[in-house]
Amino acid sequence: MVQLSAVESANITLVQLRPLVAVFVGATSGIGEYTLLALARAHGENGKGLRVYLVGRNATSAKSIIAECQRLCPSGDFRFVQVDTLTLLRDTDECCKRITKMETADPFGGGEPRIDILCMSQGFVRFGAAEITPEGLEVSMSLLYYSRMRFILKLLPLLLISPLPSHILSIFGAGLEKGPGAHLHPTDLSLTKNPAAHYGFLNLRVHVVHMTTIFFEHLAQQNPGRLSLVHVYPGLVFTPAIKNPSYPWWFKTAVFLLGPIAKRTIAIKPEEIGKRVLFLATPRFPARQGAEIGSKQTGGGEVAVAMGSDGVKGGGAYSVNWDGETNDIERSYVKLREQGFERQVWEHTMKVFEVVGSGKRFEA
Ligand SMILES: NC(=O)c1ccc[n+]([C@@H]2O[C@H](COP(=O)([O-])OP(=O)(O)OC[C@H]3O[C@@H](n4cnc5c(N)ncnc54)[C@H](OP(=O)(O)O)[C@@H]3O)[C@@H](O)[C@H]2O)c1
Repeated sequence: MVQLSAVESANITLVQLRPLVAVFVGATSGIGEYTLLALARAHGENGKGLRVYLVGRNATSAKSIIAECQRLCPSGDFRFVQVDTLTLLRDTDECCKRITKMETADPFGGGEPRIDILCMSQGFVRFGAAEITPEGLEVSMSLLYYSRMRFILKLLPLLLISPLPSHILSIFGAGLEKGPGAHLHPTDLSLTKNPAAHYGFLNLRVHVVHMTTIFFEHLAQQNPGRLSLVHVYPGLVFTPAIKNPSYPWWFKTAVFLLGPIAKRTIAIKPEEIGKRVLFLATPRFPARQGAEIGSKQTGGGEVAVAMGSDGVKGGGAYSVNWDGETNDIERSYVKLREQGFERQVWEHTMKVFEVVGSGKRFEA
């Protein structure tokens, strides 16, 4: 486990290194919100400058989170970008256009328009039957995978302008490649070809986790020295998600009976998980071929450079547990890689984006 004190000192270095422009998607609640607050708190009055675009549906919640950020970081520039729903790629595209327009019209600090950190936590795990959007995608898959990959691609021009490598963080289930009775269906990656047989919350998780690992590795390889991409499993954190009405009775009963004990024992506290997620944007997780720069930036190599999900140290794409340690997942991918899974995931995702981007409905 990376010690919390090391996390905190790396976070302070992060905000003192350069002015930061960050985009938070899904931070109107829960872990995204805690991470945003950790960033505002770390910056405080001593950081080099901070602008945040907070993307979300809930204006009331955004307003109160921004007020708290402003209190913690009076010099910060916090902007709310409201969306209808990110289950639709159409709305994701529209949101990226607006962010690009705002940042281009008024670049932070007067330099080039850019984004240094993109942190995504939108979505939830849907229990029960699959729900398909008008664009032909399953609702949870859309929030947890497609909208997140779409945000990266649409904001890539600004992410690549960042003077140092930019950091992309996705909060969900890194390392959970397996589950009791769960199956990966490489010929039905979207889980919409045969949702009745293929969709279930464990299969959903297994698909999102595998596809994110592969998509992140591809982007890291395509953009050496420019992008660091981390997906993380945050552990158990008591957030408003615990009360999601789609959860089945047995889950709600378990939360009711065991929740109070779990909250005091195994759950990770909001403030701690916020700091730990922010830490994923520090040089322990460098862009590919950026290991040397990375270890220097930690201030004397205090925290070692992490192992990439493809087994390359400082590989640029990382699967990380809540405690800052990387997950040992290589074995889960050996056979899949031999079978051309990397190409399958990339081509499938591009196909979805091409079809939906042209205004048509995706048919698996
Ligand atoms: N909490 C845990 O213990 C835990 C454990 C493992 C994994 N995770 C994963 O971590 C991520 C964050 O979890 P969390 O506990 O922080 O959840 P949360 O508190 O429910 O936050 C989820 C965020 O996603 C947004 N969102 C949901 N549906 C949306 C939609 N259709 N369009 C746009 N935004 C939407 C929510 O916006 P609104 O405010 O508008 O609802 C909220 O900002 C999720 O992917 C979750 O599955 C959580």
